Amino acid sequence: MIRFKNVSKIYRPHTVALKNINLHIKAGEFVSIVGQSGTGKSTLAKLLFAEERPTKGELVIGGWDVSRIRRGQIPLLRRQIGVVFQDFKLLQKKTVAENVSFALEVVGASPRRIRELVPHLLRIVNLEGKAGRYPRQLSGGEQQRVAIARALIHRPKIIVADEPTGNLDAINTHDIINLLKKINEFGTTVVLVTHNREIVNSLRKRVITLDKGEIVSDQEEGRYRL
Ligand SMILES: Nc1ncnc2c1ncn2[C@@H]1O[C@H](COP(=O)(O)OP(=O)(O)O)[C@@H](O)[C@H]1O
Ligand SMILES: [Mg+2]
Repeated sequence: MIRFKNVSKIYRPHTVALKNINLHIKAGEFVSIVGQSGTGKSTLAKLLFAEERPTKGELVIGGWDVSRIRRGQIPLLRRQIGVVFQDFKLLQKKTVAENVSFALEVVGASPRRIRELVPHLLRIVNLEGKAGRYPRQLSGGEQQRVAIARALIHRPKIIVADEPTGNLDAINTHDIINLLKKINEFGTTVVLVTHNREIVNSLRKRVITLDKGEIVSDQEEGRYRL
């Protein structure tokens, strides 16, 4: 599903953010990426949704060679990959339902399809009663659930979440992680970047540790050791 072959990412002029990454993530896995600040976790996430490109090496995602992808193909790749960020990135002037439906409108989905899918997604993230609210009228945890509903809109094969609970308290963190687990149980591959030790240790899933741009450990049912 995701394969890094000798991938390096160098930000000009000379910041080596990732160094010779070799990694295979299979369909349906739930993988946590951990490590200290500045070790390349977000860079790895950005490579996955083609916000950045490898400087060296090859990155293949679901049959797409992302290292060589043409600009025009990036939107097609991104439909297979849902992305969730620490700061939610919701559109403040749109309601919950509009934030979720926006990506469907962009690709020209029919109004009927939108009317079906948006309530379905809001049900999955437990926000069916809040469709008409604006982001500022929601708690942080609720905003992140809207962002997750939006990320699911194209039924992606992969969800990439970069510190999705970084702005949340313990209870909301727990809810978001449970939601990601549920999405993973539906069959979606989840790549979770986090530095939350409790989350990682309670997940009992694969853990990849980065240090200074390199993978220093990769363990099934791993623990956070830094
Ligand atoms: N757009 C950029 N331009 C230059 N350097 C960057 C850029 N983004 C990240 N970096 C640098 O790359 C390294 C890895 O950053 P990042 O992937 O954000 O790490 P993490 O998410 O683990 O904190 C850091 O040294 C950071 O300063
Ligand atoms: Mg980061």
